[in-house]
Amino acid sequence: MARFHHHLFVCENVRPPESPRGCCAAKGGGDVRARFKEELERQGLKGLVRANSAGCLDQCAHGVTVVVYPEQTWYGGVTVADVPEIVAALREGKAVERLRIPDAKLTGKAGAVDGGATR
Ligand code: FES
Repeated sequence: MARFHHHLFVCENVRPPESPRGCCAAKGGGDVRARFKEELERQGLKGLVRANSAGCLDQCAHGVTVVVYPEQTWYGGVTVADVPEIVAALREGKAVERLRIPDAKLTGKAGAVDGGATR
């Protein structure tokens, strides 16, 4: 059974072209995930880091949206050109700050479901 140290969830959600919310598929979400898979293998992280396809991550205005777990690092406006830098940063335990969605712009509630401290 695979045990991954990190998961990259890449939004590939599809909405009709007339949708006011837009969607990450139209912004290249599928290509971004495919590029992550290639780059993870190239940097020797296959089996350690998994690039998963995700439905809407509810950060549509920032698409293509990617979230890294367990770090809870949210990236927005990700393109295929950004992928090597994101993977390299992950290898070093860092984040690519220029792509990070600021906490104040994230949807969802701050806090922890078990009442404990947040990361
Ligand atoms: S469509 Fe990608 S975050 Fe909503």
